Amino acid sequence: MSLLCSLLLALALAAAPGVQGACPAPADLKSEDGSRTCAKLYDKSDPYYDNCCAGSVLSVGPDADLPYLPSDWANTASSIVVAQRCELTVWSRAGKGGKSRKFTSGAYPRLEEFRKGILGNWSNTIAGLYCRCY
Ligand SMILES: *[C@@H]1O[C@H](CO)[C@@H](O)[C@H](O)[C@H]1NC(C)=O
Repeated sequence: MSLLCSLLLALALAAAPGVQGACPAPADLKSEDGSRTCAKLYDKSDPYYDNCCAGSVLSVGPDADLPYLPSDWANTASSIVVAQRCELTVWSRAGKGGKSRKFTSGAYPRLEEFRKGILGNWSNTIAGLYCRCY
């Protein structure tokens, strides 16, 4: 196989559906001890998709109900990945107040691309969450 062919193949693999930049695929979400993970939140996104899902990580399990995120995580998440057959509901204010939105299974490298109300977006604004799996 020529070098060009291998190169094209590598590019095709890199662009496989379900993989968005550095974010793990929803099917690959697992915590370190192998238990089921419902979603992962990351504190860093980036104009380049390859650099998203970076920084600190908050893993939440199925049925995680966090009306108040730990203080170092309030209004911090910039990228999220929701595991297969799971759904993450987020709120913009602590105590499940403010605006809310559901994210179905998938990788969301740049939360700022998701509209919150007329002017806002969902980057650095998640203050509470509920995650469930089927
Ligand atoms: C997202 O919202 C933040 C804070 O309101 C703002 O600074 C940023 O420009 C917005 N980004 C986009 C892409 O709208």
